[in-house]
Amino acid sequence: MGWMSWERFRCIVDCQKFPDECISDHLFRTAADLLVSEGYADAGYEYVIIDDCWLSKERDSNGRLEPDPERFPHGMKQLANYIQSKGLKFGLYEDYGTKTCAGYPGVIDNLELDAQTFGEWDVDYVKLDGCYAEITSMDEGYPQFGYYLNKTGRLMVYSCSWPVYQEENGMKPNLTKIAEHCNLWRNYDDIQDSWSSVQDIMEWFAKNQDVIVPHAGPGHWNDPDMLIIGNYGLSLDQSKTQMAVWAILAAPLIMSNDLRAVRPEFKEILLNREIIAINQDVLGIPGKRVQQHRNISVWVRPVTPVGYTHSYAVAFTSNRDDGAPYTYSVNLNDIGLTNPAGYTFKDLYGDKEFVLRANATLTVRVNPSGVVFYKATVLP
Ligand code: DGJ
Repeated sequence: MGWMSWERFRCIVDCQKFPDECISDHLFRTAADLLVSEGYADAGYEYVIIDDCWLSKERDSNGRLEPDPERFPHGMKQLANYIQSKGLKFGLYEDYGTKTCAGYPGVIDNLELDAQTFGEWDVDYVKLDGCYAEITSMDEGYPQFGYYLNKTGRLMVYSCSWPVYQEENGMKPNLTKIAEHCNLWRNYDDIQDSWSSVQDIMEWFAKNQDVIVPHAGPGHWNDPDMLIIGNYGLSLDQSKTQMAVWAILAAPLIMSNDLRAVRPEFKEILLNREIIAINQDVLGIPGKRVQQHRNISVWVRPVTPVGYTHSYAVAFTSNRDDGAPYTYSVNLNDIGLTNPAGYTFKDLYGDKEFVLRANATLTVRVNPSGVVFYKATVLP
């Protein structure tokens, strides 16, 4: 869990014109301060991650990576240590190819040196993008960079864009190998600030669930990309949907928003402890879409506590736009909730609590582009 600059702040580098938004030391110190003061850190958001556009256009005279001196005047180690002094962790972006997507120097010819530099800067998390790279060499190159990261002796989370670039180029990613070498990996397109983008990602993850879910578990996760809750593009209902589905998918919860401007009702979604607990459930089993009918999807994720069956997170999401909340019913057996003694259902976006036996019918009303989200705790 954490916060990353890309979706909201992109490659804004003009600090004269946009002093509070440009990719700079100031932006990341502010994010770290607000993660702590606004209660996000207490809820589990921990990593502050700099995405693209932090580098100088050229390496220094020793061939080393160097941050833009005007926007990062104190260097990276000092910024890292500031963030860490707040009890948080520090992440940095690079690219496996010759250049980052935005055109800054990539790591391809300096894998060992750059991994060493990251170690020296006390980096805790590395996102390695895949622009300007040879797709076929990724199967060797990403593990090699991971090897050099490990060789520094510093523990760094390794986020790989390896599979998404292979997918885009018609190659079938070797997820078994990717899960061995990366802690998380981007499977699909970049998220944008819109409901259609969230819908598109949800659809991709549902369609590919049988291929990708078996590869995820503690220490190695599929990544459907950042949370965009608190920005411009999602309504309150759509934001609740993103949070619920990302919890079901066991997705990394990495916000990309302006923490100075998140309105209270959106912040409440991001800080929902019961939903975060589903996302972070210790079993680490991602959920799946188990039913889709009349533009309503039913998503189920097995979670603790475990009894006769698992407990489950159950989300009903809607791709409907016909105005009134839509009434939808399921038989619990049909969605895999088979404990004869039943379950206590707790509404995760409300207070409702009730008990249903295995053969019972659960009826919900789902708002257009909204969600109804329950935790069903197994009864003895
Ligand atoms: C493509 C990645 O998928 C995005 O998340 C972001 O890192 C950009 N590149 C940065 O250029």
